[in-house]
Amino acid sequence: GGGKRGQVPSDLTPEERQELQNIRRRKQELLADIQRLKDEIAEVANEIENLGSTEERKNMQRNKHVAMGRKKFNMDPKKGIQFLMENDLLKNTCEDIAQFLYKGEGLNKTAIGDYLGERDEFNIQVLHAFVELHEFTDLNLVQALRQFLWSFRLPGEAQKIDRMMEAFAQRYCRCNNGVFQSTDTCYVLSFAIIMLNTSLHNPNVKDKPTVERFIAMNRGINDGGDLPEELLRNLYESIKNEPFKIPEDDGNDLTHTFFNPDREGWLLKLACSAGGRVKTWKRRWFILTDNCLYYFEYTTDKEPRGIIPLENLSIREVEDSKKPNCFELYIPDNKDQVIKACKTEADGRVVEGNHTVYRISAPTPEEKEEWIKCIKAAISRDPFYEMLAARKKKVSITR
Ligand SMILES: *[C@@H]1O[C@H](CO)[C@@H](O)[C@H](O)[C@H]1NC(C)=O
Ligand SMILES: *[C@@H]1O[C@H](CO)[C@@H](O)[C@H](O)[C@H]1NC(C)=O
Ligand SMILES: *[C@@H]1O[C@H](CO)[C@@H](O)[C@H](O)[C@H]1NC(C)=O
Ligand SMILES: *[C@@H]1O[C@H](CO)[C@@H](O)[C@H](O)[C@H]1NC(C)=O
Repeated sequence: GGGKRGQVPSDLTPEERQELQNIRRRKQELLADIQRLKDEIAEVANEIENLGSTEERKNMQRNKHVAMGRKKFNMDPKKGIQFLMENDLLKNTCEDIAQFLYKGEGLNKTAIGDYLGERDEFNIQVLHAFVELHEFTDLNLVQALRQFLWSFRLPGEAQKIDRMMEAFAQRYCRCNNGVFQSTDTCYVLSFAIIMLNTSLHNPNVKDKPTVERFIAMNRGINDGGDLPEELLRNLYESIKNEPFKIPEDDGNDLTHTFFNPDREGWLLKLACSAGGRVKTWKRRWFILTDNCLYYFEYTTDKEPRGIIPLENLSIREVEDSKKPNCFELYIPDNKDQVIKACKTEADGRVVEGNHTVYRISAPTPEEKEEWIKCIKAAISRDPFYEMLAARKKKVSITR
């Protein structure tokens, strides 16, 4: 039997006919249902697709803002942080900001150091939160310093260095109970190590300390007692085998900040005759050491012709009509005050100097730059040495 679609075969009973019509109706209903489901699926799929692209767009926008925030941060850390907070990419808490700096992704470590070094109360809190993110447990002091000094670029200013190294020492002592008697001991030894790094690895430092001298130099710093010799030997060996690396190393490193390598070389010095009428350029062998500038007539002379203490002096570049590459030592905010210095007269008498400025000419522009850099460092390291000396005194007191 059968018959064509839509037609009803003639040989059916009325019941069968009814049944067939029912089946056909259900089929139509089912087809309609299927169509509705298809439409719904298409709609949902469409929504999902749209949803995906808004999410994507949001993400792209977000990434763009993050990249912009980092760029801004590298140019001006405060503005960068501000921007990231305004765009809900950073919470205004010291923990969140510390986390961002600690991860450091795409951030300039000099900029991180600048931000952490700010004197602002909030920045100091961020500094402490940042230091807390460092894990120093079971690291020796050199390993911990390697990690810490690599996480940002230590700024050049004494007060900032002091705050940062204080925070470091506190954290190290908390992570390593019982290694040092006090935070000050850890602080002082940290600097002894940083200076050892310079002494051992900077080619300008001729005098390389032995491990025995390093041990001797650190006698009595553990609140009057000595640190275990084995500990000091290990730290010494570690630095000797591998110098500290600092980020953004441009040669203007910690070395120039507070450990000024001695510098020596020929320079021309403008000298006045007695009475100050005639001025002549004299070639002298200059040595910069101990925050003083010494000058000699010959490199082999034992006694200097003159000594210029650098305390309270400033240095500036100057143009001279007769000589190139000139700089001057002078007393800031001063017109006529004579610089405290001394010199040896031809007849051997030592007399006070009579200069309100010292004008000096270097053989090349490069040497001029290098002398100015070294003298500046020698002048500016003073507050730092005072701070360190005060701590040393504190930890050396025998109880
Ligand atoms: C980081 O910033 C310092 C100071 O602005 C700059 O000298 C240095 O080149 C920068 N480093 C990088 C990797 O951009
Ligand atoms: C350690 O010494 C090396 C070589 O002089 C220098 O490049 C580096 O900056 C020093 N590190 C520190 C933390 O002073
Ligand atoms: C120092 O120099 C001034 C002029 O520059 C001169 O009048 C004075 O006598 C000098 N004093 C000494 C001790 O040479
Ligand atoms: C530097 O200045 C301080 C304070 O004015 C003063 O006490 C000290 O004697 C000065 N030192 C020299 C070498 O002029």
